[in-house]
Amino acid sequence: GSVLGSTVANAADSAIDNILSTGELKVCFEAGYIPFEMKTKDGRFIGFDIDVSKHMARAMGVKFVPVNTAWDGIIPALQTGKCDIINGGMGITPERNLKVLFADTYLEMGQTVLVTPEVAAEITDYRDLNDPKYNLVSQIGTTGAIAAKKYFPNAQLNLFETSADSVLQVKNGKADAFVYDLPYNAMYAAQNKGGVVHLDEAFTYEPLGWAIRQDDVNFLNFLNNYLVQIKKDGTYDRIYDKWFNS
Ligand code: ARG
Repeated sequence: GSVLGSTVANAADSAIDNILSTGELKVCFEAGYIPFEMKTKDGRFIGFDIDVSKHMARAMGVKFVPVNTAWDGIIPALQTGKCDIINGGMGITPERNLKVLFADTYLEMGQTVLVTPEVAAEITDYRDLNDPKYNLVSQIGTTGAIAAKKYFPNAQLNLFETSADSVLQVKNGKADAFVYDLPYNAMYAAQNKGGVVHLDEAFTYEPLGWAIRQDDVNFLNFLNNYLVQIKKDGTYDRIYDKWFNS
């Protein structure tokens, strides 16, 4: 509810009320995270999360409305009501979970590294990157940035606003390694053969989940039951195969 113009929700309010009354499911994500959310040349949003979001909106009988948001401000965007849900490859971390509710895990993965062909020739293991002579990159505010600090404290680290800017440093030989989510790195390596080398052993465990505002148990209950439904009725596998096995 709105109290004196404030947008702070009452504990009793559910995003469901707003979704149904406006006929729109507003979904926050940051395009540029392959193969979960990408922007096409003609300005459409595509990817695994996008297809699931569209299906979710249909299940609620409403329209899917994409809200492409800088990763760095994506939790504030949810908290201030710019969207109803974050469906954007977000890792369920304890730190984030103190600010938002997460529905049950929809995909499990972990962090890996993309290195230059030169670095690939001189190291045998991702652990070898923990050396001051190596210059690592990742995206601001991501679990990749956290993992880089935790697992490679002795290396140099530069953070960039987007994953594309970060990984380009490695592709152009300006940085030695990009620390990021395994699915992204696997796909980027496949699309840039010879330019980068993927060390595909994940060294963290990261569950991904849909984030919603705190206290909204009604929406949380809807989402967890919806997730079980799509996992059991073939919808999830159909969308997964489209983006991960083609
Ligand atoms: N899974 C990582 C995290 O939770 C990265 C997600 C990045 N998503 C994006 N659209 N850039 O931090």
